[in-house]
Amino acid sequence: MSFDRKIKIAPSILSADFANFGQEIRAIEAQGADWVHVDVMDGHFVPNLTFGPQAVKAFRPHVKTVMDVHLMIAPVDPYIDAYADAGADVLTAHIEAGPHIHRTLQAIRAAGMKAGVALNPGTPAEAVAHLLDLTDLVCVMTVNPGFGGQKFIDMTAKIRSLRSMIGDRPVHIEIDGGVDPATAPLVAEAGADVLVAGSAVFKGGSVNAPEVYGENIRKIRAATEGTWA
Ligand code: DX5
Ligand code: ZN
Repeated sequence: MSFDRKIKIAPSILSADFANFGQEIRAIEAQGADWVHVDVMDGHFVPNLTFGPQAVKAFRPHVKTVMDVHLMIAPVDPYIDAYADAGADVLTAHIEAGPHIHRTLQAIRAAGMKAGVALNPGTPAEAVAHLLDLTDLVCVMTVNPGFGGQKFIDMTAKIRSLRSMIGDRPVHIEIDGGVDPATAPLVAEAGADVLVAGSAVFKGGSVNAPEVYGENIRKIRAATEGTWA
C-alpha cells in the first residue's frame, strides 16, 4: 500500500446486501471503489452488531484494492491478531474504546497492518496530538458511529486542525458518515483524502444494476473536483 493524498472513495459494505458480500465487493471495485470499508460493530461500544474476524477473512479474497477495517468494538487489543489473520490492510480503533490507544496502535503495526485511529464527533483533534507518529490514518467520524444513513455532522474545523497537525507526515485523513456529493467537497477542501460512503454509494443499485454504484461513486468523486460527472 503506497501513500498518496489523492481522493479515495471507500464504499462501506454496511450498506451492501448482507447475504451477498462477495459479489457486492466485486461490484463496487469494478465500478471504481478505491478502498473497501468494513464496519465491525460489537453491540457494546456501539448499539449495533455486524460481523467479526471470520466474516472479514471470508471477504478478503474478494478485495483486490485495500481492505479498510473500522473496529467499533471495545476492547480492541484481544482481537488485533485475528484481524491481521483475516487480512486487514488498515485496522482502525476508536480512541474512545479504551485507555491505552498508544499501545493499541503499536500492536496493530507490530501485527503488520496500517494503524488507524478514529475520533467520535465529541472528541477533539488534539486527542491524537501524541499519536501522529504511531498512526497511518486518522478517521474523523461525521456521525455518531453505529448506523449507516445518518445525517452528516460538520467537522470541517476538526479536519483543518488535523491537517495542520499532521504536516508532512504520511497520515491519511478519512471521513466516515453522511458523505455524499453535497458533503464530500466540504471535507475534501478541509484536507481529507479518504471518503467513506455507505448509503450514498449503494443507493438505487444492486449486483444486478452495478452501474448505479459506479454513477454514485463518480458523483462523489466529481464533487470533490468541483465538477459533476
Ligand atoms: C457508521 C459507519 C460508517 C457507515 C457510513 O458507524 O462507521 O462507515 O457505514 O454510512 P453512511 O455513508 O450511510 O453514513
Ligand atoms: Zn466506518
